[in-house]
Amino acid sequence: MNTQELATAVIETVSEDTAIDLEKAFQESHVQDILDRLDQELVGLKSVKNKIKEMAALLLVDRIRKSLGLTAGPPSLHMTFLGNPGMGKTTVAMRMAEILYRLEYIRKEHVMLVTRDDLVGQGIGQTAPKTREVLNNAMGGVLLVDEAYTLFRPDHPGDFGLEAIEILMQVMENQRDDLVVILAGYKDQMERFFHSNPGMNSRIGLHIEFNDYSVENLMIIAQAILKNQDYSFSPDAEKAFQEYLIRRKTMPHFANARSVRNAIDRARLRQANRLLSSGKRLTKQDLITIEAEDILASRVFKEGVPDCESES
Ligand SMILES: Nc1ncnc2c1ncn2[C@@H]1O[C@H](COP(=O)(O)OP(=O)(O)O)[C@@H](O)[C@H]1O
Ligand SMILES: [Mg+2]
Repeated sequence: MNTQELATAVIETVSEDTAIDLEKAFQESHVQDILDRLDQELVGLKSVKNKIKEMAALLLVDRIRKSLGLTAGPPSLHMTFLGNPGMGKTTVAMRMAEILYRLEYIRKEHVMLVTRDDLVGQGIGQTAPKTREVLNNAMGGVLLVDEAYTLFRPDHPGDFGLEAIEILMQVMENQRDDLVVILAGYKDQMERFFHSNPGMNSRIGLHIEFNDYSVENLMIIAQAILKNQDYSFSPDAEKAFQEYLIRRKTMPHFANARSVRNAIDRARLRQANRLLSSGKRLTKQDLITIEAEDILASRVFKEGVPDCESES
């Protein structure tokens, strides 16, 4: 439904006391479907989901106001997602892009994912063209700059990251009708980044914080991932995995839900090898069940280190 149809659908009579059925407009925008999907995809994150819903409401109301000729500056759509790795930031960015597209704030339902290396060149004169090319490609959609604070390195005088920041800020201001920028990264680093780059901060309309999951929530995430893949923990495996999480959480490179997913992948690998070497005939239940030993074989228990150093 385009904006005009939306307006027609919600306005019964056009007069001073025009009746506008916001609830109906919301239903018809199908934004609820996206919010529902987000809710299914990501366990917990209540406050994140609330903020996304609030933003969706603002966007919808703004659309309707605009269609009635009521003026207000368009809401600032640039955002920052603050939180540790594996918290669902990229996933939320994808859903946000869908909402923006559904409500016609962007032309392309596309999130372009970049990091410092995609924007900043090695030598003099390389950064501006590199950044501009990325921006051109992202135009009309959403640009997600992951670990955006790495663009600012005050301890490296003359660092080319500053050039990328300058260009990014110009485009965020001048072409905000056609590009939504999301800056993501660790909370502390991003706050320092904004402190040193107040111009950037002032262009951001929405700050969303992703707070680390509790072990309890990580267990729920694990169960959801297993269920999706037709696996399940035996009661002992469940206890072992909880213990795994308690230990893994304190080790380097812990990445919340992503670490859970990776740990489950490794447990599946161990299960498969256990089944193969057992030489037994297998039941369906054998194929479904992850046993405690599939978890306890992890280096997290044996050596007190993550299974995979590079896990992030
Ligand atoms: N709350 C959650 N519930 C279930 N899965 C999650 C949750 N948060 C993240 N994930 C999963 O973890 C992985 C990493 O998520 P991602 O959105 O890339 O996180 P980030 O961008 O914060 O590093 C994805 O596979 C995602 O589906
Ligand atoms: Mg990410």
